[in-house]
Amino acid sequence: MAIKHFLQFSDFTLDEFEYVIERARLIKRKFKNYEPHHPLEDRTLVMVFEKNSTRTRLSFEAGMHQLGGAAIYLNTRDSQLGRGEPVEDAAQVISRMCDIIMIRTFGQDIIERFAANSRVPVINGLTNEHHPCQVLADVFTYIEHRGSIAGKTVAWIGDANNMLYSWLQAAQVFGFHVNVSTPAGYDIDPALVEPSNQRYTLFPNPADACQDADLVTTDVWTSMGFEEENAARLKAFDGWIVDGAKMARARPDALFMHCLPAHRGEEVAAEVIDGPQSVVWDEAENRLHVQKALLEYLVVGRVGAN
Ligand code: CP
Ligand code: NVA
Repeated sequence: MAIKHFLQFSDFTLDEFEYVIERARLIKRKFKNYEPHHPLEDRTLVMVFEKNSTRTRLSFEAGMHQLGGAAIYLNTRDSQLGRGEPVEDAAQVISRMCDIIMIRTFGQDIIERFAANSRVPVINGLTNEHHPCQVLADVFTYIEHRGSIAGKTVAWIGDANNMLYSWLQAAQVFGFHVNVSTPAGYDIDPALVEPSNQRYTLFPNPADACQDADLVTTDVWTSMGFEEENAARLKAFDGWIVDGAKMARARPDALFMHCLPAHRGEEVAAEVIDGPQSVVWDEAENRLHVQKALLEYLVVGRVGAN
């Protein structure tokens, strides 16, 4: 049977997400009550990082321990990965010694090649093109605060990056709409969007994209791996800050999300990220709970309510 991976948001059906979200709710409740939950006893997660991380490493490592298993951290600096070992060979070796693998890397093609040679499930912990674990945590956070996300409107203010492509896939799965406002030259690459996806509308003006939105979200102007473009981006993104005026165009009960780390005064004003509509700390915490449910699902499959 084919191994189930989570390499992009569209790898799971709505039914699978609903199951994982329900498990995440239960797993979160147990965590809050200090109730042990060890379905992954004696199981090992290997985490491969080719880019920096705080939240992803913490949430996967802590999560795996809390599920009764162990997590091993590898990075490009001090493993053979940084010395040119072919990704296919690394996948063969790593996947013979563990039960599940999480990778943060550059091109999506790298994780696809890794997964094709892996004997165990592979989770995308961020690539240039996708960040599905973060958007899963964000959808979970929206549902926690406001109920179903179906039929709602999400405003994306920023470049067409990994977060946006995962939001666009999530919109198709969950049935919500994304108002997208990207600065000129940083717009959507049609090759990265399913041609049948009609769940988004483009807005040249970022404030217009926020009109009547249920959720406003943004991200750093320069993603990891694109640092040499930083000066040009600072200029091109002028006017794309999510500030109080833009939030005022959204619905009064709109939430603000940001995957973090954030730059106050660039993509978001302090009044917004530190204001009452912001749920960024819940978003960060929920990485832990949804990824524990994801790890459980990918390693042991569906389990009864326990
Ligand atoms: N949001 C997120 O993925 O954070 P890290 O880069 O700290 O893992
Ligand atoms: N888009 C950002 C997200 C960081 C969590 C990046 O890729 O750097």
